[in-house]
Amino acid sequence: MAYILGRRAFRRVELEVGPGVLVPRPETELLVEWALELTGAGDRVLDWGTGSGAIALALADEGDSLRVSGVEVSGAALEYASTNAERLGLEVELLRSDGTAAVDGRSFDLVVANPPYVRSGDLASLGPELGFEPADALVAGETGLEVHARVVADAASALVAGGWLLLEIGSEQAADVVELLGDAGFVDIAVRRDLAGHDRAVGARTGSDGPAA
Ligand SMILES: C[S@@+](CC[C@H](N)C(=O)[O-])C[C@H]1O[C@@H](n2cnc3c(N)ncnc32)[C@H](O)[C@@H]1O
Repeated sequence: MAYILGRRAFRRVELEVGPGVLVPRPETELLVEWALELTGAGDRVLDWGTGSGAIALALADEGDSLRVSGVEVSGAALEYASTNAERLGLEVELLRSDGTAAVDGRSFDLVVANPPYVRSGDLASLGPELGFEPADALVAGETGLEVHARVVADAASALVAGGWLLLEIGSEQAADVVELLGDAGFVDIAVRRDLAGHDRAVGARTGSDGPAA
């Protein structure tokens, strides 16, 4: 339906969407809410896999003078993000990048990501409407956790000491993602539920002595 209308509301912004980019989901607003609680004036925030720019633009809109960057591997998705930023008049740095490659050597106070987390074997059973969206934006791999592992590794090198990583998860993935974060040396790991009562996000910060891994 969002593809037909060409627009989808997310937090306070309206985003242009279409073939080639994931339609932002209401449950992803939880990540924005959590990020706003953890950030202060001038903080540097990285949206890993920004897609339409939903999270990055909502944070630029609602945050306290946040310096927001978004990285995205898909050129088609990044075009939607750039169009959305321009139309909304919001300042966000948008970079085409495989993970954090394009921001290598830079540090962020918070990294947020809604990575692909569907298991490759599950896609067909999840409903025909998902067939309109790019599979690369939805499917992680055989376990569904492959991209979370990549984001955790990227964030461990991109975050300042004590910086936060917030990850969206599938409702059955909390224990596995908590384990991934613990293994990578993250601390203060917490799980939050969405409005439907499903586990939907995991947050953790790097130890204050330095990068987590
Ligand atoms: C589930 S979508 C989320 C999009 C957007 N953040 C949102 O919440 O609506 C995952 C996004 O991650 C991007 N992605 C997947 N692998 C990536 C990688 N290695 N580097 C950067 N982006 C990646 C996909 O292209 C897709 O846009």
